[in-house]
Amino acid sequence: MAEKTLEALLKEDRHFPPPQDFRERAVVRDPKVYEQAAQDRLKFWESFAQQLHWFKKWERVLEWNPPLAQWFVGGRTNLSFNCLDRHLTGSRRNKTAILWEGEPGEERTLTYAQLHREVCRFANGLKELGVCRGDRVTLYMPMVPELAIAMLACARIGAPHSVIFGGFSAEALRDRINDSKSKVLVTADGGWRRGAVVPLKRNADEALEGSPSIEKAIVFQRIGTDASPIMKPGRDLWWHELVARQPDWCDPEPLDSEEMLYLLYTSGTTGKPKGIIHTTGGYMVGCFATTQWVFDLKEEDLFWCTADIGWVTGHSYVVYGPLLNGATTLMYEGAPDFPAKDRFWTIVKKYGVNVFYTAPTAIRAFMKWGEEWPKKHNLSSLRLLGSVGEPINPEAWIWYRQTIGGGRCPIVDTWWQTETGHILISPLPGITDLKPGSATRPFPGIEADVVDDKGNSADAGYLVIRSPWPGMLRGIYGDPERYKTQYWARFPGVYFTGDGCKRDADGYFWLLGRVDDVLKVSGHRLSTMEIESALVDHQSVAESAVIGKPHEIKENAIVAFVTLKGNVKATPELMDELKAHVVKKIGSIARPDEILFTAELPKTRSGKIMRRLLRDIAEGKALGDTTTLADTSVVQALKEKYEESE
Ligand code: WT7
Repeated sequence: MAEKTLEALLKEDRHFPPPQDFRERAVVRDPKVYEQAAQDRLKFWESFAQQLHWFKKWERVLEWNPPLAQWFVGGRTNLSFNCLDRHLTGSRRNKTAILWEGEPGEERTLTYAQLHREVCRFANGLKELGVCRGDRVTLYMPMVPELAIAMLACARIGAPHSVIFGGFSAEALRDRINDSKSKVLVTADGGWRRGAVVPLKRNADEALEGSPSIEKAIVFQRIGTDASPIMKPGRDLWWHELVARQPDWCDPEPLDSEEMLYLLYTSGTTGKPKGIIHTTGGYMVGCFATTQWVFDLKEEDLFWCTADIGWVTGHSYVVYGPLLNGATTLMYEGAPDFPAKDRFWTIVKKYGVNVFYTAPTAIRAFMKWGEEWPKKHNLSSLRLLGSVGEPINPEAWIWYRQTIGGGRCPIVDTWWQTETGHILISPLPGITDLKPGSATRPFPGIEADVVDDKGNSADAGYLVIRSPWPGMLRGIYGDPERYKTQYWARFPGVYFTGDGCKRDADGYFWLLGRVDDVLKVSGHRLSTMEIESALVDHQSVAESAVIGKPHEIKENAIVAFVTLKGNVKATPELMDELKAHVVKKIGSIARPDEILFTAELPKTRSGKIMRRLLRDIAEGKALGDTTTLADTSVVQALKEKYEESE
């Protein structure tokens, strides 16, 4: 984050206490919850676990052998049972579980009873194909109810799912399938995005040429005649044909608390994405508790989390958290600006959304599009707003509150990560005084701290978590060493988040963005190394260095500095070709905004690329300390060249 905004942020002294009527009806009204949870964290989490169904009760709440945690040890449960069957005996049986709108405008509702039936049938279909407990299943799907159905079916039979965001390329899909050695792929003939078909099946076909572990591919028909995919005999089968022959009931597997629920790939500081492992019992309890308390869910609420299920936010707060709470969750397939820039507000008004959860990058885009779009719609059904994914700047916070929330809705700015599984820092909307731009305080039972370089508590430095929490990652798939070095080595026995943070005199946390080589671009998490590897993969490229440059809407723009091989000519065509190459290797979310060709990159005498200097150049700042450079003329020449290119 730019220094100027940081300074302004820390002077932010506006307070917004919960409105009285909100406080009176809130799920959590008593500030004593913090003390009570701190006194006995295990009892606190246990009280949520007790509200859920277990085939066999746990023997111990926590077993902690740093950095390995086990929660609800010895317990047996099933996520699909808790999301579905548990609601079937009472008044929720015919309540809407999923309310879906397709981008072209179709509407679908699935009640809890209907969703249960679909999940059972698909689970039986997976079994027919030989999927067993422990087998991984990759899901590469658009935002349709069948994605949630497939996840819940996997959870029902104990086959970990690995959802790959539909915006990833064939090569990215292939790498992730191979890392997880999935047996089955579930995909669709396509999905709708801004009126065009996203060719999921075509990408899948390309990926499967190099994915030997996949035995079967199940294809959901979303598009129909406009897509007409080629079905490979013996490998590909249609979803509707598979489920048509399945019975309506499938026994839920009584899974051990620590059995793997899913893998989710995310970018770290190296070129290779890591498969984050989440297990069953603790993740379930963490999602259940945070959804209820942070989003203040009431029986009649319609909850809309706008995230794609391809990311962790969609896993925890489109699917698992809301369904565990018996809520109605809204799913929308497409883009926020299609067919017009008020699509989201049309949806809020049409269905009467009560709780709305989105990302700062979206809010900044709405601001730029202008308030006339939301103003066209009556948004008075909204009573609570949420934000996630990156720091929200106070201006965007205030705009969100006024223009979308009509000045009456609290905002929950929720901090968490793919690795944390669920929200760890957030206001509780009925009791927390809000400050625009602060995620406020750790959720009850969470021991977050800010530490200096040596690991001592400080007012400014790094955000860490001092003790385990139920939904924490249990490892990186196939790489136990990396799990230890990545998260637990910097400060031994303490979880290192990779985020910078300040704490003010009231104990409020102010997140300052990543301190490592991880970038946030329009809410998507990317590693600079991953993009560099994609560039170097091109035959003309010798070396590259990628940095994030502050961007008004996207948070970061991707800037790549590239040196070319031998006598390759730097042409505008080559620049386009390199951008296209990154899209092919990763997906369009990673397309560089700017590429600068250079004869050399600034390096230290030991050969390390000095990214800090590259950032200064891209931000047009005066160059900082260059004394450790091997050759100071390189950086001066580069700065001039960059300024010319702009
Ligand atoms: C990174 C994790 C967790 C869901 C979406 C992102 C940043 C997330 C906030 C927030 C400031 C935030 C952090 C974090 N982040 N929420 N409320 N305020 N920063 O998951 O892709 O794993 O990214 O997102 O930098 O480390 P993710």
